[in-house]
Amino acid sequence: MARQYNFAAGPAALPEPVLRRAQAELLDYRDEGASAMEISHRGKAFIEIAERSERNLRALLSIPDDYAVLFLQGGATVQQALLPLNLAAPGQAVDYVVTGHWGATAVKEAQPSADVAVIANSKTADGQYCDIVPYAEWAPREGTAYLHYTPNETIHGIEFLDEPDLPDQVVVADMSSTLLSRPIDVRRYGVIYAGAQKNIGPSGLVVVIVRRDLLERAGQPRAPIFHWKRHADTGSMLNTPPTLAWYLAGLVFEWALEQGGVAALAKVNANKAADLYAAIDGSGGFYRNSVAPRARSWMNVPFLLHDPALESAFLTGADQAGLRALKGHRAVGGMRASIYNAVPAEAVAALIAYMKDFQQRHG
Ligand SMILES: Cc1ncc(COP(=O)(O)O)c(C=O)c1O
Repeated sequence: MARQYNFAAGPAALPEPVLRRAQAELLDYRDEGASAMEISHRGKAFIEIAERSERNLRALLSIPDDYAVLFLQGGATVQQALLPLNLAAPGQAVDYVVTGHWGATAVKEAQPSADVAVIANSKTADGQYCDIVPYAEWAPREGTAYLHYTPNETIHGIEFLDEPDLPDQVVVADMSSTLLSRPIDVRRYGVIYAGAQKNIGPSGLVVVIVRRDLLERAGQPRAPIFHWKRHADTGSMLNTPPTLAWYLAGLVFEWALEQGGVAALAKVNANKAADLYAAIDGSGGFYRNSVAPRARSWMNVPFLLHDPALESAFLTGADQAGLRALKGHRAVGGMRASIYNAVPAEAVAALIAYMKDFQQRHG
């Protein structure tokens, strides 16, 4: 079978040129006589991979020097548990804004280690999420260690389309499904973290961008391996990093730079999303997206068919048309098209053509 257009939410599509390059380098990475995943993380070749990838990520996001960049194991959820341990004193208050599943998960992960308050929540009476809570409506408490939110909710397809301006807060942002999709101003955040398996690379890696002064916080008693500062001081080599994932992330960063950087990717992303939402809205109710227009995600587009009985025919036909992984998350149902950086405009065009054709046949 040929490669299909891949709308998976994560692990998600990787750029084909990255996979081809990894394939070409698989057996012998640059005359090492072994692949990038078979060499020591402390050897010269891998240190070069690590340094180059950090340099390129810094260039892509204009990360200032007073921010450390960590490449760690364990995914975004582990970081959700480590946030209060690294940033909050025992029992200190921390604020959370919840606009979907992952914000709620972050609350659960923090609760054992901090006095957590949800200061804004967009959950509706029937348990759904279909909007953000605008920054102006947040009411942070006094004396908190930080304020956490999720700029893009991967499952519900809800995104803050602008950035917070809260200079008095240490804003912590779970950017797992939005990092690298559009330009950001890193200075607005104390901590940005992102599981890699959307716009960065394969799973198994999480990137943490943290303002260096926050690394000086005592946090709470914890095992050495859970100290961000120790990871920062050792170049993320306190223990063995996920070398293959890190190497592939490095290739993705090079690819992103070749595309013209994040600003250029954002233009393509904005157009892809606009085209897909227009197709949904223009279907006369055959397809429906119930997210408020001011909060519609560029990266994850959930949509329902007017008749749920058509869902399995839709998915079977999509697969036959070379369009994979469109089934929505069980919490929301219906379909979801994740249209990350590595999903080309042609893939979205093919999806739209298929949706129109399906509607004609079943409308
Ligand atoms: C926004 C967001 N946060 C957190 C997670 C959890 O990430 P992980 O599976 O890497 O722990 C995900 C997973 O897809 C996500 O989309």
